[in-house]
Amino acid sequence: MKVRINKFLSEAGVASRRKAERLISEGRVKVNGEIIKNLGTMVDPEIDIVEVDGKVIKPQRKRYIMLYKPCCYLTQLGLSRDGRKTIQELIKDIPERVFPVGRLDYNTEGLLILTNDGELANRILHPRYKLPKVYFALVEGKVSVNTLKRIRKGAELEDGFAKPDNVRIVRYEGDKTLIEITFHEGRKHLVKRYLAFFGHKVKKLKRIAIGPIKLGKLSPGKWRDLNQGELTQLFKAVGLKYTPKR
Ligand code: URA
Repeated sequence: MKVRINKFLSEAGVASRRKAERLISEGRVKVNGEIIKNLGTMVDPEIDIVEVDGKVIKPQRKRYIMLYKPCCYLTQLGLSRDGRKTIQELIKDIPERVFPVGRLDYNTEGLLILTNDGELANRILHPRYKLPKVYFALVEGKVSVNTLKRIRKGAELEDGFAKPDNVRIVRYEGDKTLIEITFHEGRKHLVKRYLAFFGHKVKKLKRIAIGPIKLGKLSPGKWRDLNQGELTQLFKAVGLKYTPKR
């Protein structure tokens, strides 16, 4: 069956669909020996030979992984420029080229999904599919009931209006408050900026769920494959159907 070239490349784990389009525009992609520049080019993975920078790209087995990113790791593959640790070293035993779906800040910990399925990744991130991302935020100060009401109503941040899908106070910890907060979008530093707007600096942030996928009892720094039940639910949550051979 023929698929669009950018879909083929993202499903082969080469790059996200958008990045794949950039590779095509830069003339780095060949199909059957010819450089192609047309983003609409269709290929048959069973027949056509696709190359990127001269390397033949084979369709990969789909891999869906959850990682507990500990604090103080960069969400990027490969080495960092400044010597900081990256999640690469936590997933080095995975042969497929999985990439992180979205990012967590260097000092944020918790659930990160990694996959070589570009279509699923796009949908997990796209606000249109409203997939909730749930965080535990330990903030400075005691969040009052009044402030909680304001937090629930939304606020105008420097890059536009933001409103959580859900917020609750889990407990007070001395002069700090543990809050559970859910957003279905992933703007940079959103949770930290949002709570700081209400005067509560985030001291510690942990993502505990992405849609139906829960961090559960996974230990910091460890990863595991998502199981069939989790994949069925995750695909459904973003309007796709999970078939094990995808
Ligand atoms: N919001 C943040 O502020 N940081 C993260 O890492 C994730 C969400």
